[in-house]
Amino acid sequence: MTSGIGVNNQNAGSFSSEKLLMSPFSFVTFLLGLSLATAINLSDLTTVYEWPEKIEYDWPSETFKTKVFQDTSFELNGIHPRFMAVSPERIFLSLAGYRGLPASLVSIPTNSTSSLPPSLAPYPSWEMHRKEICGTIQSASGLEVDKMGRLWVLDNGSKKCNAKIWIFDLANSDKIQNVHEFSFRLGLHDLVLDETPDEWFAYITRFEKGHIVIFSLKTNKSWLLDTPGKSFLCLALSPKQETRMLYLGRLESNELYAISVREIRDRKRTAHPKLIGKWNQAPYRMLMDSAGVMQAAFFQKKYTSTWNTSLPFAEQPFIEVETLDSRWPFSFASGTSRNLWITAFNWNAKPKYRLLKAGPGLRSYLYDASKFDCLEGCHKEHGYCSRPGECLCKVGWKGNYCDECHPYPGCVNGTCNKPWECNCEASWEGMLCDKILCSETCNLEHGSCVAIGECLCKTGWKGKNCDECQPYPGCTNGTCSQPWQCNCAAGYHGKLCDLEDE
Ligand SMILES: *[C@@H]1O[C@H](CO)[C@@H](O)[C@H](O)[C@H]1NC(C)=O
Ligand SMILES: *[C@@H]1O[C@H](CO)[C@@H](O)[C@H](O)[C@H]1NC(C)=O
Ligand SMILES: *[C@@H]1O[C@H](CO)[C@@H](O)[C@H](O)[C@H]1NC(C)=O
Ligand SMILES: *[C@@H]1O[C@H](CO)[C@@H](O)[C@H](O)[C@H]1NC(C)=O
Ligand SMILES: *[C@@H]1O[C@H](CO)[C@@H](O)[C@H](O)[C@H]1NC(C)=O
Ligand SMILES: *[C@@H]1O[C@H](CO)[C@@H](O)[C@H](O)[C@H]1NC(C)=O
Repeated sequence: MTSGIGVNNQNAGSFSSEKLLMSPFSFVTFLLGLSLATAINLSDLTTVYEWPEKIEYDWPSETFKTKVFQDTSFELNGIHPRFMAVSPERIFLSLAGYRGLPASLVSIPTNSTSSLPPSLAPYPSWEMHRKEICGTIQSASGLEVDKMGRLWVLDNGSKKCNAKIWIFDLANSDKIQNVHEFSFRLGLHDLVLDETPDEWFAYITRFEKGHIVIFSLKTNKSWLLDTPGKSFLCLALSPKQETRMLYLGRLESNELYAISVREIRDRKRTAHPKLIGKWNQAPYRMLMDSAGVMQAAFFQKKYTSTWNTSLPFAEQPFIEVETLDSRWPFSFASGTSRNLWITAFNWNAKPKYRLLKAGPGLRSYLYDASKFDCLEGCHKEHGYCSRPGECLCKVGWKGNYCDECHPYPGCVNGTCNKPWECNCEASWEGMLCDKILCSETCNLEHGSCVAIGECLCKTGWKGKNCDECQPYPGCTNGTCSQPWQCNCAAGYHGKLCDLEDE
C-alpha cells in the first residue's frame, strides 16, 4: 500500500471487531493513487445512519400498515433509494421498490439524537401519496433543494396521472408552491436547476423519448428539446459561469455529452450536444459541486467517480465498497453545507443501507464557490461573517447565532420580536415595562402600585383612582384642580375661602 489517503481491505480486516462496527472505512475503501483536488479526507467520511437489514416507514397506525401489506404485494425488503436532496434539517429520498410502494418520497432528519436509524416519513404527508389519485405524488424521481429553500420533485406520474414538477416551500410548513403538470407521463429520470438573474429553469431528462424537457418557473410553462438520435438519462449542470454547460449521460452508454445552456434556454426545438468523453461504465446519476467537480455513479458498479470539469475529461475513482449486488448502489446530494451526502445500498450485505457524509467538501452547483460559510446556524439575515465559521450580528440582533433581538435599551420586564421593542410581560407596563400593572382605572400620572390591581396615590392626590386632587389643608368653601389649591366658591374669599364676601 502506498502512502496517501486510503485503506485497503487487509488493513480494514485488522481492525478490532468493535472498530469494524463503528468505522465506515471497513466498508468503504478509497481507491489508491487518488489525486482529487477536492481531497475528501478519509477521516471526514462519517456514517450518519446505518440500517442493518430493514428500513421502515413512519406508519401512521398499525391498521394502515396492515392494510398496505394486505392490499398490495408490497415488501419492505424491496425498497431502495434512488435520488436524494438535502436541506440543512432534512434529507429527502425518492425510493424505488416493487409493486405497492406506499410512498415514493420520504424525509429523514440530517441529525438525530437517537441511536436507532430513523424511519422514513412520507413527504410531505401520507395523504399526498395515493395511488392513481393525480393530485398526489405518484412516483418521485429526481430531487433538488434550491437556495431559496424550495424542494423540487420530479414526479414520473403513473398509469392514469401525468408527470409533474412539485415545488414545496420547506421553510413554510412544506406548502406546495407550484405544481406543473406535463402533458405526458413516465420516462423521466432526473432534473437540474438553472438560475438566471430573473428566472429559474429546470432541465429534465426524458430518456424514453430522447428529449430534454425544459420548465420555466417564471412562465410556468414547459417545452421539449429534441436531441435527435440520442437518449439521455442522467444530467449535471456546471456552476454559474459565463458559459454554463449542461452535461448529459447517455442511456445505457458510457458516452458523456455537453451543451451550453445558452443554446437551450431560448426555446429552440432541437439541439446537438457534443461528445466530450467516455466513462468506463454507463452512469445513472451525476452531480456537480460549486467548483465544477462532477460525481458519477454507475449501474451495478461498486464505485463512484469524479471529474474536475476544468480539466479535459478524466475519470478519477472516488469511493468503492467491498461487495455489491445492486443495480443502483449509490445516490448522492450536496446542499448549502460543505458536505457530500452518499447513500450506499446493497441487497444482501449488512448493513443494507448506509447514509454517509463526506466533508468539508464543496456545496452544490447552485451555490457560489467563492462564498464561504459562516458559523453553522448563523442567522441568514441577521448574521454575517468576514471569516469562515464566524457569526457577527447586524445592529439590533444578538446571541451566538444572531437570532435574538435586542430589546429597547433599559427595557426591564419586556421582550422583543423585532429589534428595539419592549413588549411588556404580564403585569408590567410603561415604556420600559418597569411599572407593575396597577388597577385598570388607576391614573398612572398620580398613582402607582406595588401589587397588581392596586392604586396608591402620590402626595397631593386621592380617590380610588388617584384622580382627585388634595385641596389646601383647611380649605373650607373652595376646590382644587391641582394639589394644594383652594379656589374659592362664589361668595367666599380668603386663603382658606372661609370668609364670606360682604
Ligand atoms: C480543477 O482543475 C483546475 C485546473 O487545473 C484547478 O485550478 C482546480 O483547483 C481544480 N479544482 C478542484 C476542485 O480540484
Ligand atoms: C447533532 O446532534 C448532536 C446531539 O444532539 C449534536 O451534539 C451535534 O452538534 C448535532 N450536529 C449537527 C451538525 O447539528
Ligand atoms: C402552473 O401551471 C399548472 C398547470 O400545469 C397550474 O395547475 C398551476 O396552478 C400553475 N401555477 C401557478 C403558480 O400559476
Ligand atoms: C419512470 O418511468 C419509467 C417508465 O416509463 C421507468 O422506467 C422509470 O424507472 C421510472 N422512474 C422512476 C424513478 O420511477
Ligand atoms: C421584572 O424585573 C425585575 C427587575 O429586573 C425582576 O426582579 C423581576 O423578576 C422581573 N419580573 C418578571 C416577571 O420577569
Ligand atoms: C361654606 O362652608 C361652610 C362650612 O363648611 C358650609 O356650612 C357652607 O354650606 C358652605 N357654603 C357653601 C355655599 O358651600
